[in-house]
Amino acid sequence: MKRLTTLLCAAQICFAGVANAAPLSISLPPETAALKPSPLPGYKLAQQKCSTCHSADYINFQPPGMTLAQWTAEAGKMQQVYGAPISNEDVSIIGAYLAVTYGSAQSSDADVQAAHSPMGQRAATPATKVDAMALLQNNACLSCHAFDHKVVGPAYHEVAAKYAGDPQAAAKIAASIQHGGAGKWGQIPMPPYTQLNPEDLQTLAAFILAR
Ligand code: HEC
Ligand code: HEC
Repeated sequence: MKRLTTLLCAAQICFAGVANAAPLSISLPPETAALKPSPLPGYKLAQQKCSTCHSADYINFQPPGMTLAQWTAEAGKMQQVYGAPISNEDVSIIGAYLAVTYGSAQSSDADVQAAHSPMGQRAATPATKVDAMALLQNNACLSCHAFDHKVVGPAYHEVAAKYAGDPQAAAKIAASIQHGGAGKWGQIPMPPYTQLNPEDLQTLAAFILAR
């Protein structure tokens, strides 16, 4: 309950009395949604930085045996393509943890060790701007929504599934974002976003539908 209140307030929309309202319930993620523990520093970092947008299932369901380079590239993709707020150093450290814990690397490997030293940092690369992800982050959408599981609002995968095959889907989703509303997914309301322009609404709707 405390977490829900925090989320709502993080979105600048504190619903008075949420903490006292009894009927709201939040289901905890299943076991597979947790990251595998490790003494490597990347474990804590990944717990902090890799759970904002989706659950650890995305990591658990990657093919086994991926190398350090592949896992580091995966973490780098989150940073550069999807705008995850992590530094290049975080990418190396998280990549090393993932490669040892889920992939083919050993913690004694020289390149794994190098990933933990400042010398192992790659040169700073400017993050490619991805409009839809930037819109989701700048408008606090991700404090209430994730891609693969319900937070306060429905998972974007479920929204995409609900509208699959509907030729009006993009227009309907854009209108839902613009006007907000309640009752389609539950009793908690979605706030209106009347300040978003039509292009932003289309970008968001298309991105969510493609999940
Ligand atoms: C800013 C949001 C965000 C953060 C933070 C984030 N991801 Fe992702 N991640 C995404 C999106 C978007 C997808 C693709 C989702 C989809 O299409 O269902 C994705 C997909 C994935 C996948 C599935 C394979 C793929 O490439 O599509 C893996 C593995 C993954 N993320 C790992 C990570 C790791 C490791 C971290 C922490 C370094 C992380 N993610 C942090 C947004 C994020
Ligand atoms: C304060 C929490 C909150 C924030 C912030 C929020 N949403 Fe929602 N969203 C919800 C809830 C709750 C619902 C379910 C509403 C319902 O049941 O009709 C929802 C529903 C939706 C739906 C499904 C609409 C439908 O027609 O089925 C989409 C798409 C969506 N949100 C996108 C967004 C986008 C994009 C943003 C940011 C611009 C955003 N949301 C911000 C809580 C939020």
